[in-house]
Amino acid sequence: MQQRFSDLIILLASGINQRRMYFNNHPKVIDISAEFVKKLGFMLGEGQKDEFSFGVFNSKFIHKGKYLVGPSIVGRSLIEFAENLSCGGFVFRQPITSEDLINFFRLGAEQKDKIDSLETARAFFASAGLSHIELLTPFADEGEKGSEKEEQSDSPEADDMKFMAADFAPLLKAYQSLYETVAANNLALHGDERINIEKARASGEQLIAVSDQGALDVMQFMRYPDFDSYTIGHSVRVAALGALLARSLGWSHQLQNEIATAGLLHDLGKGKIPDGILFKPGRLNEDERKIMETHSALGARVLLNNGETNPIVLSAAWGHHLREDGGGYPAMPPFFVRSSAASLIHVCDVFEALTAVRPYKNAMCPRRAYEIMIKDKGAFHPRMLAALIQILGLYPPGSEVTLSDGRRAVVVAKGAAPESPLVRVTHGEYGEPLSRPNQPAIHLDQQSEIKIDEFKIVGVDNEDSDATEPAASSLSDEILQH
Ligand SMILES: [Fe+2]
Repeated sequence: MQQRFSDLIILLASGINQRRMYFNNHPKVIDISAEFVKKLGFMLGEGQKDEFSFGVFNSKFIHKGKYLVGPSIVGRSLIEFAENLSCGGFVFRQPITSEDLINFFRLGAEQKDKIDSLETARAFFASAGLSHIELLTPFADEGEKGSEKEEQSDSPEADDMKFMAADFAPLLKAYQSLYETVAANNLALHGDERINIEKARASGEQLIAVSDQGALDVMQFMRYPDFDSYTIGHSVRVAALGALLARSLGWSHQLQNEIATAGLLHDLGKGKIPDGILFKPGRLNEDERKIMETHSALGARVLLNNGETNPIVLSAAWGHHLREDGGGYPAMPPFFVRSSAASLIHVCDVFEALTAVRPYKNAMCPRRAYEIMIKDKGAFHPRMLAALIQILGLYPPGSEVTLSDGRRAVVVAKGAAPESPLVRVTHGEYGEPLSRPNQPAIHLDQQSEIKIDEFKIVGVDNEDSDATEPAASSLSDEILQH
């Protein structure tokens, strides 16, 4: 239920983003509005309710007094819209139509300035004919507003969100900024405008800075599927993974910053690939594949044209699809020396592509992704791949697992052995949810009788992920299509 609630918020933000990029009746805008109406009808019908509402406070979404971490990361456009309307959130009442939503997306995309009073904003909504969407009164700024309500909650998922929001507040801000940066550059490329490399650099540095404070646990955040644009989520996750990997290899602080920036910008060239190819749900044909393969060289050219001179950033954009054995693309000139930065981003890029959700595939568990990458002999820098497996382990933090005694748990941290992490039990053996204080932590490396039976990435419907996993031989196709 929580997940579906989050899906709806992310769809709204996504609609605003798409409308910023396109026009009212663009198929993408229409599709999102129709999907929202359908999902809302389904959710409200189940709960026999006729309205859906959520708050916005302190640059985060709130539902029943809890911060919603995932949507807050990827839903920046909707948060901005609420802030510009001086409101504390939105109420969507049935019967809402696709036209209402398209109208909402248009206002969200076009409203760049702040409307100072809620009354004016409400009048503005009414004049736009949005009678089924209401603006909530802002929360009073008195610290963590929802705190008394939070005590009453008996939902472990909601508790989990609160826990994460409290522990990861600085990281949340960094992630919002990362998403914003990649999204803004995508938009700029679409409009043939200059991209903002300095902003990417500042966001990369912000990511490294929060990780220095010990708050970084990128896998916690990687579990949130990015419904908005998987190119954006992909770049953010590659940046975060790349920074982790660079640190584990003992690279300097400066290099870690550059890798984070390189991760954010490595797929920039995709902004120049036609949507019909970039978002094609099926396999690309030969001609489409060739066009797709131009994105790495195109990205490097865009960076050069925008004055970028950093060799790490440039070589990662240009060379992140080059294999260690010389294959891949673009064609490598004989004098070219493969850069370690490109090798590092390459490993993170493929791992992220395999373990993320795409329109044409479900998420794959890390263990399977490692297998595929190891089997693809000559593709990856061996030390980089080994380091990646070493830092993430078989069950990255944030993974949901089923234990051999039937209980369900969330991985909290790596254990002494890759297959035995530290977990927190969230559901009992009959599937009953456990409230937060009653969720025991188990060091699986100290309890040899309990094993992990089943793996699931939280928040991602990957029940039949095996059915869609590619064979190692089709790895290159898989990578191409991400
Ligand atoms: Fe790429």
